[in-house]
Amino acid sequence: MAEAGLIQFDEWVDLYAERVETMRTSAVRDLFAAASRSDIISLSGGMPDVRRLPLDTVGEVAAHAILQEGIAGLQYGESPGRTQTKEVICRLMKDFDVLITPEDVTVTTGAQQALDLLAKTFINPGDAIITEGPTYLGALQAFSAYQPTIHTIAFDDDGMRTDLLEKCLATLGPRKAKFIYTIPTFQNPGGVTMSLKRRTRLLELAHAYQVPVIEDDPYGRLRFEGEPVSCLRALDEEVIYLGTVSKVFAPGLRTGWVIAPHPILQKLNMVKQGSDLCGSALCQVIVEHYFNETPWRDVLSDMCGKYRERRDAMLAALDEFFPPEAHWTHPTGGFFVWVTLPPYVDTTQMLSIALEAGVTFVPGDGCYPAASGKGHNAMRIAFCYEEPEKLREAVQRLSLVIEERLELYRAFINAGMLRPERLSEEGI
Ligand SMILES: Cc1ncc(COP(=O)(O)O)c(C=O)c1O
Repeated sequence: MAEAGLIQFDEWVDLYAERVETMRTSAVRDLFAAASRSDIISLSGGMPDVRRLPLDTVGEVAAHAILQEGIAGLQYGESPGRTQTKEVICRLMKDFDVLITPEDVTVTTGAQQALDLLAKTFINPGDAIITEGPTYLGALQAFSAYQPTIHTIAFDDDGMRTDLLEKCLATLGPRKAKFIYTIPTFQNPGGVTMSLKRRTRLLELAHAYQVPVIEDDPYGRLRFEGEPVSCLRALDEEVIYLGTVSKVFAPGLRTGWVIAPHPILQKLNMVKQGSDLCGSALCQVIVEHYFNETPWRDVLSDMCGKYRERRDAMLAALDEFFPPEAHWTHPTGGFFVWVTLPPYVDTTQMLSIALEAGVTFVPGDGCYPAASGKGHNAMRIAFCYEEPEKLREAVQRLSLVIEERLELYRAFINAGMLRPERLSEEGI
């Protein structure tokens, strides 16, 4: 037996499937252990602040769910999910002008499972898929297990650059990409939201090149300011839409969903059977009771108020402490800010020093496909979980780590040992 904490020689290394080679562990998950040290302020996880849930109400809901529907909740359920859960989802989607019936929905074990099922359904090794770059690292993990070639499209303040998307699609040709994956609202990790004009253009291009669109929308209800922008699924019934209760209720209940055209849903349901037979019926019952019987909108609005305060605190601290060479996004909702540093800074290398300084973040290269060489000078910082004072402290700590590195390069430049324009080429 290997002792906990000791590194064990991997005698099975030649037996693993090739797909495991192309996968990478999530930097965020790896960091969770370190981030639990009490002196560390974590800006890495996208964790909703479940501390603000009314636990007595949730407890009553859970007890109610078990006492009223215990047998159903404790039994295997239908693979596509309980009809009652789907009815709740249909009502939730009405808020987004998406009018559907339970047959249009499959309940999944979080949106994360939906990503895996879609990848398993669509991707053969070497197939082209298109994502934003940077994108959600959990999506990259799910997709890369099926060995696609991932083409990334940059975003700006208006979301995915559809001019670049068009170029990419034109190079690949019609019906050549298996899907376009996008997080149009409060993107992870960018925090940016795609404008209506870009949404319309993306859908036009998807139709012209006959490529399905996957819209991942965990943050759509977490808006702090401005008017909502129509979700892609409300603009086009062929869009595959992913939703989840994780950021509006509780990720511990692992309940998400897919809305898709029926032929795609049929394939997904078949793939899901091989994956988990069915999701947790008990969690679905709790979700139903929570959304049917509690003032969840008030709870969410209270949480959004808190997230907004934290976003404000983080942006103010960035203005106050970060060097002029740094740039960052200004999210109007969601959980994340994306910071870009000069090209000669490597944020993965910087992470261990930041940990010593008592702060964590997600290095940018984890939000791009492996070996793409992109994102090394960027980082995702999350404002969702810590209180404003702690966020300020964390940003200040981080700024000292960054400043130290910038000083080093400035010294090289001043000593004439480096020309600023050659810094990135010289790889230091
Ligand atoms: C963009 C995006 N998609 C999917 C997920 C996974 O969500 P779930 O908890 O529903 O599996 C997350 C979680 O952070 C996310 O940010």
